[in-house]
Amino acid sequence: MNILIFSGSPRKNGNTELLVEAFSKGASEKHHVEVVSVHDYTVHPCMGCNACFTSEGNTCVQKDDMSLIYDKLVGADMLVIASPVYFYGLSAQLKAVIDRCHNPIRDSFHIKKAALILVGAATLPELFDSILTQYQLCLNFFHIEDAGHVLVRGAKEQGGVRGTKALEEAEALGRAIAQ
Ligand SMILES: Cc1cc2nc3c(=O)[nH]c(=O)nc-3n(C[C@H](O)[C@H](O)[C@H](O)COP(=O)(O)O)c2cc1C
Repeated sequence: MNILIFSGSPRKNGNTELLVEAFSKGASEKHHVEVVSVHDYTVHPCMGCNACFTSEGNTCVQKDDMSLIYDKLVGADMLVIASPVYFYGLSAQLKAVIDRCHNPIRDSFHIKKAALILVGAATLPELFDSILTQYQLCLNFFHIEDAGHVLVRGAKEQGGVRGTKALEEAEALGRAIAQ
């Protein structure tokens, strides 16, 4: 499979990035993996104009790097969403990319599986509840199969997940992804 990973943290060498690297290491044994660190792309938030519904080629009025990401999404069989928890949500950079999929271009996507990697500083039991709900509702809507989650609590500092079981868990999830 072609696995596309959206890595949502703007913090380089941070926890999301380390978890993504570990997942990629496991998944690369059987699959082609591409990581899109969304902070490296200029993607403006959706303006809700719906012009893409009638425009030639469903082009967006905003000329930014989202066109590069659409091309990657068209070729993906699986999508991995990886993000730090920001106020119980995904990072704004990642949310902007997801919202820009409100475009008929998505009818040409053939993503059949997804996975979720989240990391937050708190140790609260409910830390991931809102993101998990949103993730599962989107999967239901698009008939995408959930391939699993890595949910890491208590990691605040840059690189805090180093040497923890969380990296092993992420690598194991990557390795467990079936065809
Ligand atoms: C804007 C912002 C909001 C955050 N909100 C939360 C939060 O709601 N809950 C939490 O547990 N951690 C929160 N954190 C902490 C980060 O999730 C945590 O430091 C995480 O390890 C960052 O991942 P990274 O190293 O990949 O950037 C927040 C951090 C920032 C910068």
